Amino acid sequence: GYIMKLLVLLLCSAVAVTYGKVRQGRKFPDDFVFGVATASYQIEGAWDEDGKSENIWDYLVHNNPDAIVDRSTGDVACDSYHKYKRDVEMMRELGIDSYRFSLSWSRILPSGFANHVNEAGVQFYNNLIDELLKYNIDPIITLYHWDLPQKLQDLGGWLNPLVVDWFEDYARVVYESFSDRVKSFITINEPGQVCYDGYGTDIKAPLLNATGIGEYICARHIALAHAKAYHLYNNVYKPKYGGVCGYTFAMDSVAPLTDSEEDKYAAELMTQHQWAIYSDPVFSKDGGFPKELLELVAKKSAAQGFPRSRLIDFTEEEKAYIRGTSDFYGVNHYTGSLVSSSLYTSQYAVPSSLDDIEVGQMIPDDWLQSASAWFQKMPDSMYITLKLIQKRYGDLPIYITENGWSSYGGIDDDDRVDYYRSALEGVLDALDDGLNIKGYYAWSLMDNFEWLAGYTERFGLYQVDYDDPELTRTPRKSAFVYKHIIKTRMIDP
Ligand code: NOJ
Repeated sequence: GYIMKLLVLLLCSAVAVTYGKVRQGRKFPDDFVFGVATASYQIEGAWDEDGKSENIWDYLVHNNPDAIVDRSTGDVACDSYHKYKRDVEMMRELGIDSYRFSLSWSRILPSGFANHVNEAGVQFYNNLIDELLKYNIDPIITLYHWDLPQKLQDLGGWLNPLVVDWFEDYARVVYESFSDRVKSFITINEPGQVCYDGYGTDIKAPLLNATGIGEYICARHIALAHAKAYHLYNNVYKPKYGGVCGYTFAMDSVAPLTDSEEDKYAAELMTQHQWAIYSDPVFSKDGGFPKELLELVAKKSAAQGFPRSRLIDFTEEEKAYIRGTSDFYGVNHYTGSLVSSSLYTSQYAVPSSLDDIEVGQMIPDDWLQSASAWFQKMPDSMYITLKLIQKRYGDLPIYITENGWSSYGGIDDDDRVDYYRSALEGVLDALDDGLNIKGYYAWSLMDNFEWLAGYTERFGLYQVDYDDPELTRTPRKSAFVYKHIIKTRMIDP
């Protein structure tokens, strides 16, 4: 009887391990970093205080108010410029290990150039950093999270090849000012959204909408700018202070609709257009832009009568300069879709702006819709995405630099709680597979200015009461759940 019971038990556990994941009791490693993330324009406010100049978002909301769904601005936002101590207090309430925030370039360098450093701007970030360190919260700085000084935009912004030098000069000021205390830097947040949304379409400032041209010019310059800022850190500041410097990409999970070779190819093309064009130059073995995309755009350009490809390739020297310039892979992950070339002409076709790749995408009806039009809850998407990184680039340290759910508001945010739980299960699954995932940052600490969606979409663990002049922050249910997860290093309720 006893032997029999033991055998059955063994059999059952073997089946459980093989077919289902044994989730109970799984723990995050002790040194796994839990954090929250924000970005300067989305939370700071104080848009023209203490010497700050206008950036492309200030310019957009002031000159084209209809572009923002609720005609709101980031003039005040969460007023974190004045309320940063409360922000840090919230982080202590959550018990996080690390805070990812970004710097406002035009607050530090009002002319956009490094001819004049605005000491008041630097002081603000010093105060924030010191407050974080006082409570053992590790700061991780993003140098660029979409708020380019308008004066540089007037000169072409990310389309001007000189932006590579402008960014290096800005990076030097940042490293000089903060690298004695800050040990982690991210050069640029989501180059794909900077380039495609801002220059290829009109989803983000500066709404240039130069489809098929703008995103490709920007893709070249942004990779070079990142690499230059990385080399500077690596050559000068890393030897002196230690620390790491990386790059963060937006990655949706792009899954083929069927197992057919065509659909797999469609998924590969979509991947190349959406993010590999930005991350291959840094992380792929040979560097440079993805081969199929290069060929496709060259072919299309020729057919359209262009004497040269709209996607300008790097020189061999540039490829070597860019390759390997990141100490980790930073990934912002939210959602995904099923893609197929057969969907291209159907109702599911993505906007014609993606014409270079003839691929359509669809979202099954049973994926829960968030408050953001682009964002549904795709089952297992975190795990799938992490595995895509591994498949493409091999094993490397990964930080999930953003992940979170958008709602219309309310304190009892059960959908957000579910979303966080499933995403973190995906992280544990990937850890079980041996992936080197070092940390996870929830987006976001609190509700904030969600770009063209203004304040209509809320991503916060803390709710911000915008009607209250104090902009009171109140923890949602998800804040308590996240706190518990951080404390126990386990997901189970
Ligand atoms: C990614 C961006 O980095 C962040 O600024 C934005 O608010 C979130 N996604 C949610 O859309």
